Amino acid sequence: MALSPLDPSSYSRPELAVVKHVELSLDVDFENKQLSGLALLTVNAIEDINELILDSSDLKIEAIELEDGTALKYKLEEPLANYGSKLIITFNNIIGAGKQVKLRIKYKTSPSATALQWLEPKQTSGKKYPYMFSQCQPIHARSIMPCQDSPAVKFTYTAEVSAPENFSVLMSAIRDGSNNTKTTFRQPVPIPSYLLAIAVGVLESRELGPRSHVWAEKEEIERSAWEFADTEKYLQAAEALCGPYQWTQYDLLVLPPSFPYGGMENPCLTFVTPTLLAGDRSQADVIVHEIMHSWTGNLVTNRNFEHFWLNEGFTVFLERKVGASLISDKDEARKSRDFNSLLGLQELTETIKDDLGVKNPLTQLVVNLSNVHPDDAFSTVPYEKGSLFLRVLEDSLGGPAVFDDFMRSYLNKFQKKSIDTDQFKSFLFEYFKDSADLTKALNDVDWATWLHKPGMPPVIPEYDTSMTKAVKNVLLKINSSDAESLDYNDVRTFSPQQLINLLQHLIDQDALPLDKLRALGEAYRVSTSKNTEITYRWLRMCIRSRDETKLNDSFAFVNQQGRMKYVRPIYRDLYAWEDVRERTIENFLRNEPYMMHVSAYTVRKDLHLNV
Ligand code: BES
Ligand code: ZN
Repeated sequence: MALSPLDPSSYSRPELAVVKHVELSLDVDFENKQLSGLALLTVNAIEDINELILDSSDLKIEAIELEDGTALKYKLEEPLANYGSKLIITFNNIIGAGKQVKLRIKYKTSPSATALQWLEPKQTSGKKYPYMFSQCQPIHARSIMPCQDSPAVKFTYTAEVSAPENFSVLMSAIRDGSNNTKTTFRQPVPIPSYLLAIAVGVLESRELGPRSHVWAEKEEIERSAWEFADTEKYLQAAEALCGPYQWTQYDLLVLPPSFPYGGMENPCLTFVTPTLLAGDRSQADVIVHEIMHSWTGNLVTNRNFEHFWLNEGFTVFLERKVGASLISDKDEARKSRDFNSLLGLQELTETIKDDLGVKNPLTQLVVNLSNVHPDDAFSTVPYEKGSLFLRVLEDSLGGPAVFDDFMRSYLNKFQKKSIDTDQFKSFLFEYFKDSADLTKALNDVDWATWLHKPGMPPVIPEYDTSMTKAVKNVLLKINSSDAESLDYNDVRTFSPQQLINLLQHLIDQDALPLDKLRALGEAYRVSTSKNTEITYRWLRMCIRSRDETKLNDSFAFVNQQGRMKYVRPIYRDLYAWEDVRERTIENFLRNEPYMMHVSAYTVRKDLHLNV
């Protein structure tokens, strides 16, 4: 079932009326784990309307009135699991097409709002103060504020937030000022609801560059400032490719370990997991990725999450271009871009062949979300199949020299809009219409298969394999010799990415016998790595080899941080090991209260604990 015609995941009806601006005034109450206050919505009628439909989830609506105080009738329908309730507000008379109306909603959030995590002091680094943060993407904004929770709708916002003294309040907006307890914000660029974000904690900040600060608890602030010191360099490289950065400020917030994603592109303030703090700047690609969303996603936005690849596929594509542009040697740059693309292809193959299956409709680039919650549809497919498709298009249209210009033109054309895949495709044909050759190249693309068929991509680009060759050789050695002959010299010259590539291959093949596994862990120094990308893969290898001595390390790893990219595959591998299944479920149930909603929700399904 689709909840509404334009967006299967939202009750709202943006074809009838749209929210253009929101003025929020909120109180942060740690005691009761709730936000309470007012949302003043400016609504433009597109048709004649006598009601407005909004999304809400677990909200306590206390009053709805017009700006002048006239009370309005409203009805909150029975909730649908994971989608929340339809909120129908009825006007006293018809609002004519083209007219504007402002309405004020007084409300409170629930302590179990799915967008929010309220942390006890003991879950923070400082152990003294509580902490709260949000994660609205894809459809959790409705648990923070009544809204048209569809990316088809974009609005500007201001906010005035009261919190206890000494707490910093941060939002996905320009921070205008703060006195003792009140902080004010404004977001002058229209955003979809999923980019609404808030975090409140006892925080410090350090300057990273002319438009950037990093925020973190004091225990992490120095390491954070060091890890992300190159942020301005990345911003400039991104601007060289995509044009001026339009959001004024680009700050980073390092969240507590339960943050469920690597990064989240909240405008003006990217949220990141503390697992990026590897001490070697090796996870810079995540920052570059979130920076690129400032164009693809935040300026040009998917119309609904069926077209999520327009956000993530484009962003990965740009991330790899910008990453390569930071390498001065042209040849090295090209090799590195292809190497990262091959890592992506390796992940895509694992997802499609091992996890989802080649017939699974969720392996399509454009998916049908009529009966599927976007949190359940999430996978690497939109990221990797999407960016691979763009690479195939780039190659067949004449390479970066041609495609970079197209990309800038695309960004320019659709900035501040929300679009679907057909609009991208039409614009592509339109852009190249004067060239017979390139139009032919576009007509030769098997669009139906690329966009709407499940399974692996129909064409794989000819990537440069020079950086994977060394890895393949070591893999051969591991598979053909005994444990004793593994030596650190095998991998001494490897970059962290190459080591990751090697471990990923080892995960994808038959599990190593225990003696070889242990010899490898020690010889290649992976068992003691501080880099979570390596630890994550090492633990998966241990689980697959049924190394019981690593079980407690594995439990500790999934309990200490909540990044789903790590936690879910480890839980799935543990579940597949029948002897430890019971202990795995026990571990999950014990830790579940400390997990963020979306991590708990998805792992629960991975462990077949659905109720
Ligand atoms: N926007 C996503 C995170 C997200 C996606 C949150 C869907 C909720 C629903 C973010 O930009 C992202 O893709 N993060 C990746 C980073 C990676 C691809 C470099 C992550 O968290 O791993
Ligand atoms: Zn992303």
